[in-house]
Amino acid sequence: MRKQDDATGADDQGGPAMSAAMTPPWRRRPRKPFSVEARLAEHVDRLAEEHPPIPVDSADYSMVRPELLAERFGPVLTYMSRVELEVERNVLELNLLLPDPPPVDKHFYADVWLPQETHHGYLLDRLQQLAGLPESEPDLTSLAFSYKVLGALGRWSAIQDVSRMLYYLTGVATEQSAILAYNKLYQGLLDLGEKAVAMTVVAPIRRQEPGHFAYYKIAAQGLWSEMSEWQKWIVRTLRRYTFEPVGAYTKKQWAQFGDVMHHLGIAVSATDDELTRYAQQIGRFELEMLWAHRNGLKVPTYVLDSLHRAAHLAAKHRPHPA
Ligand SMILES: [Fe+2]
Ligand SMILES: [Fe+2]
Repeated sequence: MRKQDDATGADDQGGPAMSAAMTPPWRRRPRKPFSVEARLAEHVDRLAEEHPPIPVDSADYSMVRPELLAERFGPVLTYMSRVELEVERNVLELNLLLPDPPPVDKHFYADVWLPQETHHGYLLDRLQQLAGLPESEPDLTSLAFSYKVLGALGRWSAIQDVSRMLYYLTGVATEQSAILAYNKLYQGLLDLGEKAVAMTVVAPIRRQEPGHFAYYKIAAQGLWSEMSEWQKWIVRTLRRYTFEPVGAYTKKQWAQFGDVMHHLGIAVSATDDELTRYAQQIGRFELEMLWAHRNGLKVPTYVLDSLHRAAHLAAKHRPHPA
């Protein structure tokens, strides 16, 4: 649904920007303040230059009490390393979902985001194994049927825009969850006296996440401003019914995510206030963009409900203290 060529300033009447002088004022489209694609391209170039994939051997994996570290943060390391490594499958899903993506999207996810995230996975996996935990077991091949359906429908550009929007919104929520999780993990490791791994494994990883978050945010805002009302309606509806916590595709993984929140101190109980705050942080962006018309709403209900469900499932499986 791009109405204007951002790179050249040409409009969809077929003429370059110069012809605007000949167009009556009431026919002119409002000029975009700044080309979104150009901004994204610049952002991706900066990410690639300033944040190359972190070499796995650059970290200091020495631990003071590896058993205690594994006990306190094992479920977090296992979950996060899997999610980071599964970006390889996520890229295959994106290739299905978006048959004709804007080149800047493809450049971002294939050339910059994929190698960065994969290395996050390698670092966390190395750390967990050195702490005595099993190697990560990412699922790199199972592609959900829904991607094939949406991908086939995506031959219509108006539908592909909806899929792209869902991709960006998932990205915003996912990266925000990761930023918050790594902040908690970093502090938790410091509190445990594990300074080396906090400073050389988690700190470099968490430094790379805000750049991903920013990418999706800029892209989502740009696309939203171009969408028609019926597209926005579909986005809101699909988002409400398909939202899931990062990396949670099965019931077991939902429970594991609940466990991650538990170990990070986000959800000590399923009704924890901290959990509501976490949901508000994850859902803030889409609350402001998608649900701005719903005055007084504090958090998208489906975000909070999902986290509650994960926390409940985790609590159900957790052995009760004697
Ligand atoms: Fe990451
Ligand atoms: Fe990320």
